[in-house]
Amino acid sequence: MSKNILVLPGDGIGPEIVTEAVKVLNTVNEKFNLGLTLENGLVGGAAYDVHGTPLPEETMSKARAADAILLGAVGGPKWDALEDRELRPEKGLLGLRSGLELFGNLRPAILYPQLADASSLKPEVVSGLDILIVRELTGGIYFGKPRGIRVLENGEREGYNTYVYNESEIRRIARVAFESAMKRNKKLCSVDKANVLEVTVLWREILIEVGKEYPEVELSHMYVDNAAMQLVRAPKQFDVMVTGNMFGDILSDAAAMLTGSIGMLPSASLDKDNKGMYEPCHGSAPDIAGQGIANPLATILSAAMMLRYSLNEVAAADAIEAAVSKVLDQGLRTGDIWSAGMEKVSTEQMGEAVVAALL
Ligand code: NAD
Ligand code: IPM
Ligand code: MN
Repeated sequence: MSKNILVLPGDGIGPEIVTEAVKVLNTVNEKFNLGLTLENGLVGGAAYDVHGTPLPEETMSKARAADAILLGAVGGPKWDALEDRELRPEKGLLGLRSGLELFGNLRPAILYPQLADASSLKPEVVSGLDILIVRELTGGIYFGKPRGIRVLENGEREGYNTYVYNESEIRRIARVAFESAMKRNKKLCSVDKANVLEVTVLWREILIEVGKEYPEVELSHMYVDNAAMQLVRAPKQFDVMVTGNMFGDILSDAAAMLTGSIGMLPSASLDKDNKGMYEPCHGSAPDIAGQGIANPLATILSAAMMLRYSLNEVAAADAIEAAVSKVLDQGLRTGDIWSAGMEKVSTEQMGEAVVAALL
């Protein structure tokens, strides 16, 4: 049966990295006879420029109909000055996540042994690193209401957001985290700020409650400030980490650097039935866009996650991950992961090397 993939390149380096991931997908599609059909759509600034909105109805309906979505990145200085915040490129991405109820965001931080030198930490601290950050993606302070900027009686303006989670939102992400831990080393660290914020007092309570259904999983709790410190002090103490939307955003960027570069971190954003959107954790990197030097591996690895989680094509996913490892063995490096003695390659050369390794 044919499977329909919606490809949303987005802005900045998005189109450059997605082009390479699509080459890789087309290669496994033929090699493993997957029956994938790929179709393109517009999101973010690219959609705003054509349709005046970062998430056109046409994109949303294609996304609903697709079996899985591959997204590059959105945003950039061109659209930062837009007065109506609803029209910002990032709103397109947030609209896809909430509209499709993609509440479970998996961000695996794995250090390829070939990249030990590219990590910002000492090799002995990071070698063998394999952690999974489970980030809640459709709630918390990102979506809480009320929100806005208001004028106070004294004429001063005040910005405000609301950090809110209800029990069912916490319970469903807790289940994703415990289920993930069951498939790994059965250690789950829940990250909160329960010493200050009531919303995370409730978060902790629900984690403990759901944990009773998973007696084999060792559950611990950590405040987010300590978690940030522990991630750069001794990251291998973690197996699975689960946290809310904003803490997860921040901690996953920090974890990315342990793997050598933010250009190495893929992600899956899943709904309750494992339908998903797949995207690198990084952004549109305006500082290097258009230069052909961005690292496409996070996007290529996101395509592998898509095959694994939404399409159940495990052999094809394994093959992509093995091909990435092979090009790293060959010493090929984009600038962000380059170290002395390695061969510096472009986005396109990296993508084509992965394709060659698959053949
Ligand atoms: P960023 O992740 O785009 O870039 C941060 C730094 O990492 C930059 O120096 C960039 O060059 C580098 N980098 C990122 N991806 C890379 C890659 N694949 N290869 C090599 N280097 C890479 O974050 P930012 O600069 O804070 O944000 C830029 C824009 O992207 C903003 O508009 C932001 O809102 C948006 N953004 C989008 C997403 C997304 O679409 N999922 C994620 C984060 C940021
Ligand atoms: C990410 C990004 C997004 C987020 C932005 C672009 C809305 O930083 O996917 O990590 O904050 O979730
Ligand atoms: Mn982010």
